[in-house]
Amino acid sequence: MIYFNKIYYTSKELEYMNQAIISSKISGDGSFTKRAQKLMEKKFNAKKILLTTSASTALDMAAILLDLKDGDEVIMPSFTFVSSANAVLLRGAKPIFVDIDPDTLNIDVDKIEEKINFKTKAVMPVHYAGHSCDMDKLSYIAKKYSLKIIEDAAQAVNAKYKDKYLGTIGDIGCYSFHETKNYTCGEGGAIVLNDETLIERAEIVREKGTNRSKFFRGEIDKYTWIDIGSSFVISDILSAFLLAQLEKMDEILEKRKKIYYMYYEGLSELERRGVLKLPKIPDYSFSNYHIFYILLNSNRQRNKLMDSLKQKGIQAIFHYIPLHESPMGRKLGYKKGDFPITEKISRNILRLPLHLNLNEKEINYIIQTIHESI
Ligand SMILES: Cc1ncc(COP(=O)(O)O)c(C=O)c1O
Repeated sequence: MIYFNKIYYTSKELEYMNQAIISSKISGDGSFTKRAQKLMEKKFNAKKILLTTSASTALDMAAILLDLKDGDEVIMPSFTFVSSANAVLLRGAKPIFVDIDPDTLNIDVDKIEEKINFKTKAVMPVHYAGHSCDMDKLSYIAKKYSLKIIEDAAQAVNAKYKDKYLGTIGDIGCYSFHETKNYTCGEGGAIVLNDETLIERAEIVREKGTNRSKFFRGEIDKYTWIDIGSSFVISDILSAFLLAQLEKMDEILEKRKKIYYMYYEGLSELERRGVLKLPKIPDYSFSNYHIFYILLNSNRQRNKLMDSLKQKGIQAIFHYIPLHESPMGRKLGYKKGDFPITEKISRNILRLPLHLNLNEKEINYIIQTIHESI
């Protein structure tokens, strides 16, 4: 079986985890967490990055830090993972969905303004597949209406909009290091704090609402309860694993890029014949090549191809069920038909295996099997 995803190990993970264990500092904010944070801050030119237990909890922290509350609204695409919307709902605020652009699969920035009203507090662009949203246009709208920007960059670590790293452009950015992501530690994430005024409170919220970080730095002689918060700090064992991956960040990106363009070139003949569509990366976007997807012409064609590939030992999979069509989305008042592009893309998308354990022979086999099966 050629699996959709298979973890790539850099060879340093066990060594670093072993060092963390030997040091007897395996809870949060040990030396590996600090090194991983510093590495990213330097590389991404970010003011402050704090590792968290997942992107989901980084998004939860973002919603707390922006003081979202009952009656507030946050604009986001419906074509996203549940965590984007859950973070907002958990504060009592409401996710307001917007359709996506059929070329980028990112939020259609031209449809944002019509959703803005006095309740709107923030907008949450999701950089799908590691391809950037149009951040200049989006930032212009956010500034015009005094909205905060939370970048859901869960899939977009080490990707850029123009010369800026994704996650560092909005007020807050959120990264994922889940097993399925380009750089992983199994379960993990990070919050990127681009607004300096949020940094001190972020440290408190992340440490269960206490000023324990200050205490650990020796700035105060005892710590206490200051604010709401939860246990958002990642274990140093996982940070050790992650550091090994982050140290090979660009090497991993280059290898993914090679696979991405092998698919792209191998399948472009099918696009020319109108059988399928290939991803389009806008000029302003420098991808991390997180996902290679194809868009079929119908749901029937997509499912048929997915089944044929499975029979030939290739695991290709669909993606998000639009949030507005889910049982929870319906409870929020949305219904099928609300966002036609999202619905069409969700039914017709197929993601191909993309990981560093794939060899050229396997990639060519996948390309050839698609040509034969379609
Ligand atoms: C857009 C988006 N946001 C958030 C998440 C949640 O990430 P995590 O699994 O690290 O909580 C994901 C996970 O796939 C995602 O794709």
